[in-house]
Amino acid sequence: LYGEQGRAAYHAYVRRVPFSRLRFAPGRDDPYPIYEQIRAEGPFIVTPLGNLATVDHALCKEILRSRRFGVEPEDSTGPDEDFDLSFLNRNPPDHTRLRRLVAPAFSPRRMADFRDGVERTVAGLLDDAAGSGELDLVPALASPLPIAVITDLLGVPDADGEAFTRYGVALGGALAGLRSLRHAQEVMTAGRDLELMFAGLFDLRRREPHDDLISALVAAEGDQVQPQEMVPLCILLLIAGFETTVNLIGNAVNALLDHPDQWAALVADPGLAGAVVQETLRFDPPVQRTARISFDDTELAGQRVESGRFVNVLLGGANRDPAVFCDADVFDITRTDGADHLAFSSGIHHCVGRPLAELEATVALRMLAERMPGLRRAGAVRRRNSTLIRGPLSLPVTRGTAS
Ligand code: HEM
Repeated sequence: LYGEQGRAAYHAYVRRVPFSRLRFAPGRDDPYPIYEQIRAEGPFIVTPLGNLATVDHALCKEILRSRRFGVEPEDSTGPDEDFDLSFLNRNPPDHTRLRRLVAPAFSPRRMADFRDGVERTVAGLLDDAAGSGELDLVPALASPLPIAVITDLLGVPDADGEAFTRYGVALGGALAGLRSLRHAQEVMTAGRDLELMFAGLFDLRRREPHDDLISALVAAEGDQVQPQEMVPLCILLLIAGFETTVNLIGNAVNALLDHPDQWAALVADPGLAGAVVQETLRFDPPVQRTARISFDDTELAGQRVESGRFVNVLLGGANRDPAVFCDADVFDITRTDGADHLAFSSGIHHCVGRPLAELEATVALRMLAERMPGLRRAGAVRRRNSTLIRGPLSLPVTRGTAS
């Protein structure tokens, strides 16, 4: 998930290359015109680092689903030290083995068990926000909800919740890129502290198993998961839980505030929340890109792709491909051609947490429309400084009065 920019930053850190030389990220505020420039160039462009990039929906999907591309070189002997995001960065068979272990935590039955808890959490957050006329929806709703849910899913005890959140925010924030050597050191310290916390939790759940993911992991320790694989696996879930759903909720509210007619439609029928979530995932996805490495010398859409070459798969651009989506630049919660968006990627690495993210965002939007029907913007949105993860850091709103 750290992708090309993260890898470049990591290798620069190792080789002491000045970070200022790594700023190759135009389009942070609005990447979509840049995706259109890339589309106009043809199926692929070559990036400043010499890799390939594509916004072509069919090509993106083909690469993501191909067995001839992977997330690490075919001859890889294991993860980069300090840079192990578990099975997200692993090819089969390790990928298959580790993914199989966590997949049951996102089954339809588990999601049904989670629904009440998600509704209670959203209700509590909206109750807390009810007193204020003006509020920032990111700290008030979008951010605490996924943190509460992933903490619960993993089985982190309440007493550890605050420290866990602090470390998670530090590690997740690094997805936007490392700003300086000092920042890199802070991230590494948070990583080590989190590792210690997880080690303590594994011990606790070996002694006192609960109905949570960490208990399931320690029960599977041995053939299914090696001891050294457990912390990276939990960190992957933590980062994925902290840094993505917050932006889905934020991007959805942001798009609705830009389109008052569609907010009014949601208020009139809160059952449209699921459609809002899907259209937001297409129109303004929280994860804008991923990358794959070619296993062979091959040719794709007339482009030679050498073995070992990186291909950036620009999901946010693929989701605006006019060959697949009619009026692709228009946010329209009633569209019927939006289902094939790539916000959760495709192929064997497609997001395992998708049902949870969709559940959280749907409940949050439905209850927001029910309880704050007069919602309006109270100030400019402030965005994350990242080209990988897209979403608001701050979304000032006023509750207004229902019309
Ligand atoms: C993988 C997006 C929420 C856990 C992915 C990938 C994407 C993605 C694009 C695949 C990356 C690739 O193909 O290289 C999102 C978005 C989310 C979200 C947009 C919210 C709106 C979550 C949540 C969890 C989660 C809530 C878990 C708590 C994972 C994991 C993987 C993954 C474990 C790795 C899957 C694999 O490699 O097989 N996600 N995700 N995600 N996601 Fe999510």
